[in-house]
Amino acid sequence: MYYKKRTLLIAAVLSIPLFMVAISLFFSEDKPDPRGEMYAGSETCKKCHAVLSEHYMQNAHFKTSAPVNPASLMFNPDQKQLDYDYGNFQQVRFEKRGKDFFQVGYSNGTEQTSAAMDLVIGTKNAQTYLTWRGDFLFELPATYFKNLNRFTASPGYLEAHPDFNRGIVKRCLQCHTSFIDGKAQENHSFSRNVRLEKASLITGIDCERCHGPSANHVNFHTAYPDSLKSRYMKSYLSLTRTQKIDACAMCHSGSTAMMVKNIYFFKPGDTLENYREVDYMRPDPKVQQDVHGNQVELLAGSKCFISSQLECGTCHDTHQNKLSLTIYNQKCQSCHYDAGKKHPSLTEKEFMLSKNKCVDCHMPMQSSNTIKVKDKNKLIHPYQVRTHLIRIYPEETKKIIQMIKNLKK
Ligand code: HEC
Ligand code: HEC
Ligand code: HEC
Ligand code: HEC
Ligand code: HEC
Ligand code: HEC
Ligand code: HEC
Repeated sequence: MYYKKRTLLIAAVLSIPLFMVAISLFFSEDKPDPRGEMYAGSETCKKCHAVLSEHYMQNAHFKTSAPVNPASLMFNPDQKQLDYDYGNFQQVRFEKRGKDFFQVGYSNGTEQTSAAMDLVIGTKNAQTYLTWRGDFLFELPATYFKNLNRFTASPGYLEAHPDFNRGIVKRCLQCHTSFIDGKAQENHSFSRNVRLEKASLITGIDCERCHGPSANHVNFHTAYPDSLKSRYMKSYLSLTRTQKIDACAMCHSGSTAMMVKNIYFFKPGDTLENYREVDYMRPDPKVQQDVHGNQVELLAGSKCFISSQLECGTCHDTHQNKLSLTIYNQKCQSCHYDAGKKHPSLTEKEFMLSKNKCVDCHMPMQSSNTIKVKDKNKLIHPYQVRTHLIRIYPEETKKIIQMIKNLKK
């Protein structure tokens, strides 16, 4: 008896530290990164890059995918009239059930199907929602558009009734998340219904998606806090122009190319062509580019790009939130300081008044052709993007001049 009691006591005492280790592992921020031990996780960067990380939390990259909750939804979930009506007594309604949000399919007012909105993609102009069913991820039939302030059929859904069974193509996730493991990589970029490792998902575009695996950098600087010279980190400043552009092009050069290597492991300095095949759906490069997600090819067609060393970073700071157009116009004038002399068709007065509108005339907003949706049986293009083909647009010029004239009156 005595013996047994003592063993129990020893076991209990011994298990306290074990228990504490287990708890601390569970709550630890150092939970192993699903991408492997070379990755430190973006949480760790905050400690030393506090201001930059703070700014980055507001950036569209960081927010581009997230679990659904009232903060990540682009609209007020208590608002009425969000539903999408197919017209033939078919409807998708947005419903709050308990703490969760659902898309519910109705036919003649009777519920047919429902699915929880688990993940969101998009944060500025539009949002698409995804739902988990086991190890499979499906895209839900209704997408929210800010300029309509309601749901409409998700892009590419042209059926006459709500379809809750369309698997997401992994290509979406490759541009809109930092990581997901599973069969996702081995299979075709455009196949649907791929088994995914739910627990490995890293939503948003995190620091290491752009900077590459950083555990060595973090370990070194943690061990040597007095060393102010960056170690074990590829500096963007050391990259060639092509390498810099490739680091953005993995997500900003169109969605039709198929990946042959795991694009989640692209690091600054890598060559994009080693990761992807020639365009899968658009074998003819002369076919008109869509403005959506294709800034690289459009910019490459611009004289600014051809006749200078311009790259994405000349105009953009990827850690900041959206810059104001005034700042972009200053960037134009940093090269075109004599822009005033290049506008014979504008009077000096007109030019002075439109001086802060370089972007409006030379990089107008255009409708995306890929994001077209069926709305009340009409095909509409509710999504506008700024073209990166910088050139002279006579029609835009007329519009802007008219606007200036109206202002002067
Ligand atoms: C323990 C401190 C520490 C942590 C944690 C840390 N860094 Fe750094 N990092 C530094 C120091 C010091 C420098 C060099 C001085 C500077 O540029 O701020 C630096 C520089 C950098 C640079 C610039 C490299 C260059 O040469 O242009 C990048 C990029 C960077 N860190 C990314 C990260 C990322 C991503 C993380 C998180 C995964 C991270 N750092 C975590 C200390 C840290
Ligand atoms: C090649 C990378 C790429 C792929 C693939 C891609 N997207 Fe995007 N997506 C972008 C970029 C970049 C934007 C930002 C606007 C732009 O440049 O057109 C965007 C914008 C969006 C938006 C609007 C975001 C906002 O804040 O307004 C949604 C929603 C979206 N994508 C969903 C999807 C879905 C769903 C798929 C798969 C069918 C997909 N995307 C595939 C890169 C991509
Ligand atoms: C969308 C890609 C992208 C993401 C995401 C990103 N960075 Fe950067 N980062 C860049 C680029 C491009 C540069 C070089 C541009 C420059 O010189 O400012 C850079 C430069 C840096 C630098 C050195 C220059 C400076 O401004 O201090 C640090 C430090 C840094 N990043 C840290 C981070 C941290 C920490 C995060 C996450 C909170 C992060 N980055 C997320 C693209 C990215
Ligand atoms: C991993 C994919 C990925 C990489 C790498 C990436 N982007 Fe993006 N970027 C996106 C997506 C997706 C969006 C749209 C986010 C949204 O609105 O949901 C976006 C949005 C943007 C925007 C609009 C942001 C805003 O606030 O309106 C700019 C500008 C941009 N990217 C520039 C860059 C530059 C420059 C680089 C290279 C340094 C880069 N991106 C690298 C995926 C990426
Ligand atoms: C890094 C320098 C640089 C920056 C920044 C730059 N450009 Fe240019 N751009 C050039 C060069 C070089 C040319 C070709 C020579 C010329 O016409 O001056 C050019 C040509 C042009 C042209 C003539 C295009 C044609 O097809 O005839 C327009 C319009 C233009 N730029 C507008 C802009 C606007 C608007 C911005 C800002 C959004 C801008 N540029 C930013 C360097 C730059
Ligand atoms: C000459 C300056 C300039 C260069 C170079 C440039 N951009 Fe932009 N970009 C802009 C301006 C201006 C906007 C519009 C900003 C706004 O409307 O607030 C923009 C907007 C964007 C957006 C948001 C598109 C939208 O309308 O939703 C993305 C994404 C983007 N840029 C990516 C890139 C990438 C990737 C590169 C490099 C291939 C690049 N940009 C190079 C000036 C530039
Ligand atoms: C009201 C529309 C409008 C605005 C605003 C505007 N441009 Fe232009 N730009 C034009 C037109 C149209 C042309 C062609 C020449 C002409 O007809 O005057 C042109 C020509 C140019 C050219 C020369 C092209 C060549 O082949 O030489 C450059 C460079 C340029 N613009 C840059 C700028 C910059 C930089 C700004 C801002 C400071 C700006 N533009 C503001 C409409 C505009």
